[in-house]
Amino acid sequence: MVIWLTGLSGSGKSTLASGLAERWAGDGRRVEVLDGDVLRSVLPPQGFDRAARARNVRTAGWLASRLEAHGVEVICALISPYEEDRNWVRAQCRQFLEVHVATSLETCRSRDPKGLYARVGRGELPGFTGVDDPYEAPKCPELVLDTEGLDLSCALDTLEAAAHRRRGA
Ligand code: ADX
Repeated sequence: MVIWLTGLSGSGKSTLASGLAERWAGDGRRVEVLDGDVLRSVLPPQGFDRAARARNVRTAGWLASRLEAHGVEVICALISPYEEDRNWVRAQCRQFLEVHVATSLETCRSRDPKGLYARVGRGELPGFTGVDDPYEAPKCPELVLDTEGLDLSCALDTLEAAAHRRRGA
């Protein structure tokens, strides 16, 4: 299965991805996390315009689909702001669970784990998703999770339950 976490920067995607991966690895499953920040750190710099985001998201999605084909549970954490790219990825995968990590911009901004929203406020990062660049919320995700005030282990329980239902579907 490919679990695809989409949402704003600071919404909690990477925390959920690594938490779920840890649980599943502990159960002896083969699991891989593909994280947008990590992927971008190993690929040549490509920026955040529309074409770059399409390349980044589709690269991650294609890799995820190949790993899935070999029996690996794949958990992807990318902003992936465009419906068209997410749907392209969905079409590559056998079992795809789209999770909208729907934490509000206000909460993401107040968390600001990487200090990026502060930089956005100073005008240093134009074209930032959710501020002055689009984020297209999924119209029909398998799950919506707002992590504000939500205990991590509860959120992981909800994710696991959704994955279980999807497998049975
Ligand atoms: S995606 O849009 O191509 O899916 P991805 O998830 O790989 O994005 O990377 C997002 C991360 O890049 C953010 O969490 C943040 O750390 C950083 N970043 C830097 N500039 C931007 C920007 N303009 N918009 C969004 N994220 C940015």
